[in-house]
Amino acid sequence: MKIFVIGGTGRVGSQIVSNLKQVGHTVAGSFNRSTADSDVLVHLDLHDSVAINREKLRGYDVVYFAAGSAGGDLVQVDLYGSMKIMQAAKEAGVSRFIQISSAAIGSIFHDDWYRGPHGDYLDYNIIKYVSDEWLIHNSGLPYTILRPGVLMDESGSGKVTFDVHHRTYNAISNVALVAAKLLDYPRTINRVIAMGDGHLSVDDALAELPPVKSVHQAGN
Ligand SMILES: NC(=O)c1ccc[n+]([C@@H]2O[C@H](COP(=O)([O-])OP(=O)(O)OC[C@H]3O[C@@H](n4cnc5c(N)ncnc54)[C@H](OP(=O)(O)O)[C@@H]3O)[C@@H](O)[C@H]2O)c1
Repeated sequence: MKIFVIGGTGRVGSQIVSNLKQVGHTVAGSFNRSTADSDVLVHLDLHDSVAINREKLRGYDVVYFAAGSAGGDLVQVDLYGSMKIMQAAKEAGVSRFIQISSAAIGSIFHDDWYRGPHGDYLDYNIIKYVSDEWLIHNSGLPYTILRPGVLMDESGSGKVTFDVHHRTYNAISNVALVAAKLLDYPRTINRVIAMGDGHLSVDDALAELPPVKSVHQAGN
């Protein structure tokens, strides 16, 4: 498949690019401000218009969204940037959109949102929630939303869980592994999957997912 990873220089996105390449996909990852030091990187700015970015996505089967402003420009990048790129993907004929989101957003009106680490990320969580809702209800794209909790810069066990009830910790390599393997499991289409580091191999965890009952079935 031809796959475009938005945020291809990021901590998660760069590993998604490598994992997908390793299994034989044709992959382009985007950079914005970083220096492109790889021939698989293409410049893409989420501040640009739908029309500009649509041409960059033309010819790709799948788009991953693994970009983010790290709190610096939440509205223009994480929210409106993601919505515009969904529209660009739709107009470019992309047939699947995979969004890296956040596990904290499964319970938007829960008191936890105002306490502890969740409170510090309230604006981020609100914006990721709205972006996810747009993808599900307005984009017109077949989607998968992957919701890890806290991302950890540590070596991953390769073992995960999708049975998530609390804030989770996730080795970045585990998130990138699940993200890449979503393509092998059709049951992950039109599904929201919350994840954390756990005890199942990624393949076992994905194989155990029950059929989709509703758009909010998994991880909420
Ligand atoms: N941090 C967490 O604990 C956490 C938890 C759950 C989910 N997430 C989500 O996981 C995803 C990946 O996070 P991460 O920590 O891997 O991100 P990261 O390392 O901060 O990388 C961010 C990526 O976004 C790109 N980017 C930033 N502004 C852009 C713009 N205007 N146009 C196009 N690209 C832009 C960056 O490109 P350049 O470097 O080239 O500028 C980079 O590739 C994000 O969607 C994030 O919201 C994060």
